[in-house]
Amino acid sequence: MSDPEQIPLFDLFSTPAPPPSVDLDRIPTSAKIPIPPGTYADLETLGHHCRQCQRCELGETRIHAVVGRGNPKAPIMIVGEGPGQHEDEAGQPFVGRSGQLLEKILAAVNIDSQQDVYISNIVKCRPPGNRTPTATEMDACRPYLLEQIRLVDPKIILLTGASSVRGLIGDKRGITKIRGQWLEWENRLCMPIFHPAYLLRNASREQGSPKWLMWQDIQTVRAKLDEIRQVPPNAQ
Ligand code: URA
Repeated sequence: MSDPEQIPLFDLFSTPAPPPSVDLDRIPTSAKIPIPPGTYADLETLGHHCRQCQRCELGETRIHAVVGRGNPKAPIMIVGEGPGQHEDEAGQPFVGRSGQLLEKILAAVNIDSQQDVYISNIVKCRPPGNRTPTATEMDACRPYLLEQIRLVDPKIILLTGASSVRGLIGDKRGITKIRGQWLEWENRLCMPIFHPAYLLRNASREQGSPKWLMWQDIQTVRAKLDEIRQVPPNAQ
């Protein structure tokens, strides 16, 4: 007879059963069929479906679909390009060297990466060899990101690097042209910033260098967060 106190060994390795609210058959797995806004009741349901997704060929080579991490009600959402090797192995976004630098950048202006931020990517599966995701892959994955944005409802979205900007808001300008500027998209404030991997390749901290510019940009983000959080005088 089985002991109810014991966890069956094989359950640890199998895919967990879907939450009762998900009808997996009705959520399209073909990239040709859009996932309508409002499909997912919560991030857990979205994550569960995303981890089984085969809407593009990245699903064939991934170890893990990397859905997101952080506070599901965070005021800031950070959107990267796509998981790298470490993220693919860990199933968590921004956990490699770029992620460590991102954490340092946030900490430098007292933005708490657990409380103030939710982190995700344009594509949820690692492009082989860390290549840039194709437009087809970005389009196939986009409904997940749009649903994450709807559910988290961030006031501020930080887009790291040109692919993130292109993948979410469709702006094809180079990152050096548009970084540090607030762009309004769907009634949300978006700021393109350099990708941390780009900063890792550029060591200089001289005035005007990528690291120096990032320091300006993250201070602008901090100031906006403070402004958003300020209670209006007549509400006190
Ligand atoms: N680079 C990204 O764009 N996303 C990650 O999650 C990690 C590295």
